[in-house]
Amino acid sequence: MKKVRKAVIPVAGLGTRFLPATKAVPKEMLTVVDRPVVQYAVDEALEAGIEHIVFVTGRNKHVIEDYFDIHPELYDTLTRSGKTAPLASLHAMQLPAGAVSFTRQQEPLGLGHAVWCARDIIGDEPFALLLPDMISFGERGCLAGLIELYQRVGGNVIAVEQCDPTETDKYGIVGKGKEVGRGFAITEMVEKPSPSEAPSNFYITGRYVLQPEVFALLGTQERGAGGEIQLTDAMRRLAQRQEFHARPYEGRTFDCGSKEGFIQANVAFALARDDVRELVFEPIAEMIAAQQRRSAAA
Ligand code: G1P
Repeated sequence: MKKVRKAVIPVAGLGTRFLPATKAVPKEMLTVVDRPVVQYAVDEALEAGIEHIVFVTGRNKHVIEDYFDIHPELYDTLTRSGKTAPLASLHAMQLPAGAVSFTRQQEPLGLGHAVWCARDIIGDEPFALLLPDMISFGERGCLAGLIELYQRVGGNVIAVEQCDPTETDKYGIVGKGKEVGRGFAITEMVEKPSPSEAPSNFYITGRYVLQPEVFALLGTQERGAGGEIQLTDAMRRLAQRQEFHARPYEGRTFDCGSKEGFIQANVAFALARDDVRELVFEPIAEMIAAQQRRSAAA
C-alpha cells in the first residue's frame, strides 16, 4: 500500500457566504483566535504525517503564498526587539523549503475542477484532500484517524459526521454499509440531496484520502449540483471500480465558511487554549447571561 505523502488544500473559493469581509481578504486568511483558518488545515495535515502540501489558489489569493514564505525583515525586527515568543510561533509554522506547491485554478468551476488542477503535482500516488473552511476540533485532527483507516482498508476513505436530517442539502451525503473497524463501507454518495432523497444523515466533512485514478474521472466530469464540477460525482464513478469507506470523526467540525461556524470555532478554540481561556471565559459567560435575561424579559 502506497503511503499518503501529499495533501491538496483548495483555497480558490470566492467566499461569497462571508461578504463583505472576503471582498479583499481571502476567506482562508480570516483568523480563528490568532491564526488564519488555513493554518489549522496545514497543522492537521502535518500531524497526520503529510510531507508536501499543494495549494490550489486563484486570483487575489497571493497573500496565502506570502503567509507561508519566510519574512526576513519581520524576523530581524522581532529578534532585535527581543520578542522571542512571536518569533518562535513564526518559526514553528514555517514549512520546509520545497514542501509546498502552488497551482492556480483559473476559473471557479467547482471543487472537482480545483482538485483536478493538482493532478500533475500529485502524480500517481494516493493523496489527502482537506477543505480548509472545515476546521476539525478534537483531541486530534480528523485526517490522522482517516489515514489510520486507509492503512487498514486501502482504497478511498472519507471523513463523515452526522448532520441534522433537514440539512442534507448543504453537503455531500454517504450511504452506510457494513461496519469496518471504526468506519463503514460507503454504499452511495450524493451531492447536496434534499432530505427526502438523502441516503442517510452522514455528511462529508471535507477530509478525504483518494486514489489518483480520480483525476482521469474529474477530467471528464460533467457539471452537477449548482452547475459546478462536483468531486462527489467523480467519486461516485470511481466507486464502481474501487472501494470507498467512511470514518466518523470523533471530534467535531466547524464550517468556517459560514458566520455561525466561524464564530463558534473562535469561541471553542479560545476556550480550549490555556493562554486565552482565562481572558475570555468570564466575559463570554456574562454576555450570554445578559442575553438570556434580555430574552426572558422580552
Ligand atoms: C463541498 C463538498 C461536499 C462537502 C462539503 C463540506 O461542498 O462538495 O460534499 O460535504 O464541501 O464542506 P461545498 O462546501 O464546496 O459546497
